[in-house]
Amino acid sequence: MREKAEGIVRFENERFRATEWRFSPGAETGWHVHGHDYVVVPLTDGRLLLEEPDGRSRHAPLTRHAPYGRGAGVHHNVVNDSDAPLAFLEVEVLEDPLLEERERVLQCFVDAWNARDVDALMACMAPDCEFRTASGPDADGARHVGREAVRAAYAAVFERFPQAAWTNETHRMIGDLAVSHWRFVGHDREGRAVEVDGCDLLRFSGGLIDCKDSYRKARA
Ligand code: NI
Repeated sequence: MREKAEGIVRFENERFRATEWRFSPGAETGWHVHGHDYVVVPLTDGRLLLEEPDGRSRHAPLTRHAPYGRGAGVHHNVVNDSDAPLAFLEVEVLEDPLLEERERVLQCFVDAWNARDVDALMACMAPDCEFRTASGPDADGARHVGREAVRAAYAAVFERFPQAAWTNETHRMIGDLAVSHWRFVGHDREGRAVEVDGCDLLRFSGGLIDCKDSYRKARA
């Protein structure tokens, strides 16, 4: 039986948790799976024994103030394999629940366009929402403001393109803005083929989209 290492949470907010781990000689953390990406900052020199689930074990030197990082999912037992006490600070990057919700809503939104499902589209939109189309009479295209106007404008896209797919979608979240890039492939009512790249700037309010601002390449 080994002594247990002591973990003291030194800092925690919604994004980060910093835990100081102190080990007497021979002490162990016990088996654990890391739920988050993390950085270890050694507070002392030392030597760790890392026991891993496949029965293997290996040694790792700790150098004071020389950090290293690992990803979520690491599964091990960590033992102080030196004759002196040892300590490190473990800084975990916690998931942002709002960001996760926005990622989920964004995927639902893309799927809803391809499913031609106006109800599912509107389930992704905030109460006070807006759609600025790629083309229209104004500098910002045509603005459809409010849920009923947005719903009608989305339905009109499906009406105008009986066959449509948003393909090769990629997106990136930047604060409360998502940039969603896609290739639109479809046929209009007259049977004309349309294939064009475009993107949406999707602004979020809480977990829902409150503005879809669309841009398309103009073929010349
Ligand atoms: Ni660990």
